[in-house]
Amino acid sequence: MLILGIESSCDDTTAAVVEDGKRVLSNIISSQDDIHSKYGGIVPELASRRHIENIPVVIAEALTQAGKEMKDIDAVAVTCGPGLLGALLVGISTAKGIAWAEKKPLIPVHHIHGHIVAADLTQDIKYPNLTLVVSGGHTSLFRVDSPTKIEELSSTRDDAAGEAFDKVAKMLGLGFPGGPAIEKLAVSGNEKNLTFKVPQVKGAPLAFSFSGLKTAVRNAMEKSPDPADLSAAFQSTVVKSLVKKTMLAVETHGFNEVVIAGGVACNKALRRGMAEAGEKIGIDVKWPEPVYCTDNGAMIATAGYHLYMDNPDNPLFRNFLSLDAVANLKL
Ligand code: KG4
Ligand code: ZN
Repeated sequence: MLILGIESSCDDTTAAVVEDGKRVLSNIISSQDDIHSKYGGIVPELASRRHIENIPVVIAEALTQAGKEMKDIDAVAVTCGPGLLGALLVGISTAKGIAWAEKKPLIPVHHIHGHIVAADLTQDIKYPNLTLVVSGGHTSLFRVDSPTKIEELSSTRDDAAGEAFDKVAKMLGLGFPGGPAIEKLAVSGNEKNLTFKVPQVKGAPLAFSFSGLKTAVRNAMEKSPDPADLSAAFQSTVVKSLVKKTMLAVETHGFNEVVIAGGVACNKALRRGMAEAGEKIGIDVKWPEPVYCTDNGAMIATAGYHLYMDNPDNPLFRNFLSLDAVANLKL
């Protein structure tokens, strides 16, 4: 089954053709970092406008690279939330137009569902597993019983981990997105030159919180520390928090496999920290390749494939004209 996956919930315009939820025939990503970096964050209106310009080109390129034509596609999958409303609408309207004109089913996909199944694209994931989604908009732990049976165990009470990376990078004048910039600078820093408290949420040991850490970084900056040391100490504190809560969830709920996903899962310190902690207790830790960690159409096509296989006769897949974007969609 060939699925065209379309994702435009934030600042990347992306489309992919994936066969049977596993074989990626193409995965085209048009990044908008150039326009947003000078503002130190995403400007929603600019993102929507750029999506409109990019999306026909990205979809055409996805088909060409896959060696397919629109008529070969069996279904279209599109992110319908959560995300920036205007940005989501560009993807949804395009997907509706294609599905209607080509008389194909349209499968609405939750953005986080895409991140959760992304690791499945390149390796065999075991179920049930514990999946940590760490992105610019989300930081949550999920019990994943199958590619479509997912339950949230905990989430952040304030900022997402990626958002904290982006905000700290902005304070340091490192541009956007901040995660890769902080990771790069942290390599030459000494984390021991500064200490930040690993954030805890009273009465909710599995919950995350990063806004206090962000404030602590801002306060520390008043003493003009070395930016590399600050980056290293900040990154190491975020990693400690993510690892600690993930391993606590493993112990509490008894998982034997951990998956980390979302943009922050590109971070090598996080991968190392998680792998070492997993090794200590004898569990596997897996993550997608970097291109499938950050936003991409392939993960949306894969999630769409599993949703379709679960219930191919779902009337929603054919009656999609009223499908709408939902900025704060629940999983
Ligand atoms: O999953 P994603 O592409 O978009 C959302 O759904 O939010 O994640 C983007 C986030 C940004 O906050 C970015 O700074 C962060 O992922 N990120 C990283 C790294 N690469 C991307 N954070 C830390 N280290 C990285 N190497
Ligand atoms: Zn994302």
